[in-house]
Amino acid sequence: MMRQKIILDCDPGHDDAIALMVAARHPAIELLGVTVVAGNQTLDKTLPNALHLCQHLGLDVPVYAGMPRPLVREQVVAANIHGESGLDGPVFAPLTRQAEKTPAVRYLIDTLLASDGDIALVPVGPLTNIAVAIRSEPRILQKIQRIVLMGGAYGLGNTTPAAEFNIYADPEAAHVVFSSGVPIAMMGLDLTNQTACTMDVIERMEGFGNVGGRLFGDIMRFTWKTQHEAYGLDGGPVHDVTCVAYLIDPTIFTMKEMYVEVDRSGGPSYGRTVCDYFGTTGKPANCQVGITLDGDRFWDLVADCVARYN
Ligand code: BDR
Ligand code: CA
Repeated sequence: MMRQKIILDCDPGHDDAIALMVAARHPAIELLGVTVVAGNQTLDKTLPNALHLCQHLGLDVPVYAGMPRPLVREQVVAANIHGESGLDGPVFAPLTRQAEKTPAVRYLIDTLLASDGDIALVPVGPLTNIAVAIRSEPRILQKIQRIVLMGGAYGLGNTTPAAEFNIYADPEAAHVVFSSGVPIAMMGLDLTNQTACTMDVIERMEGFGNVGGRLFGDIMRFTWKTQHEAYGLDGGPVHDVTCVAYLIDPTIFTMKEMYVEVDRSGGPSYGRTVCDYFGTTGKPANCQVGITLDGDRFWDLVADCVARYN
């Protein structure tokens, strides 16, 4: 089987952690590297979180430290959802794994330039690393196979009434990515909120009785609580997992082509992904936007991966 090569760009983060679990174990995915960015928490927290996850799960994928701040705006984090550590809930052994010496942006550029154009980027945090890589070395634009990102919404935001967290945390970087001309699939909140991880899903994964199932439970029980308190949801959505699942089996999803532009005006819609759902601007689509997913098949896919952690 030809495996899809990916680089996971993340800010772990509870749902980032599950996305990593799926990406590292599904046979259709070749996880080349993990690049980390500031987002759900500051980089001095998201980077060790990524390393802890790899150490705990026995993953030998290289981990690279990325950008510690957004491009222009002041930093925002999502402690209300992910806690003070950015990954509250699980308890890890002392950290021995280390990040690679190469900075994430350098790794992205070198890996893409040396590639046959067969690597998909999977950013599931603020888009700072990807934007800096694009601006530093525009020749990578011809080498990125596609970008499958978690961010934005054509409907409501979750951080402001208008904006979703990953885009709001670095709207200028998001603009660089959305205007890059690279094929983009955008998994926004309209889609990802359909992945609420209810208690029966948590119990299903814990039922495997392995390191993957236990970690899944520790992570998603915490998210269940914070998402319930913040949004009244019946479980924490695993937003970021949809990107990996889409690359594995796009038939689980329905998508719609749209022109998407990021609001950088600084007003109440700052960080909104303005999605031309009805094509009223007449501008050519730059994005496939996620609309629906088949929940049963989605969770079967996740379960298949969690079960592989023995
Ligand atoms: C996104 O923001 C983060 O809190 C999650 O990890 C996800 O990437 C959802 O808005
Ligand atoms: Ca994330």
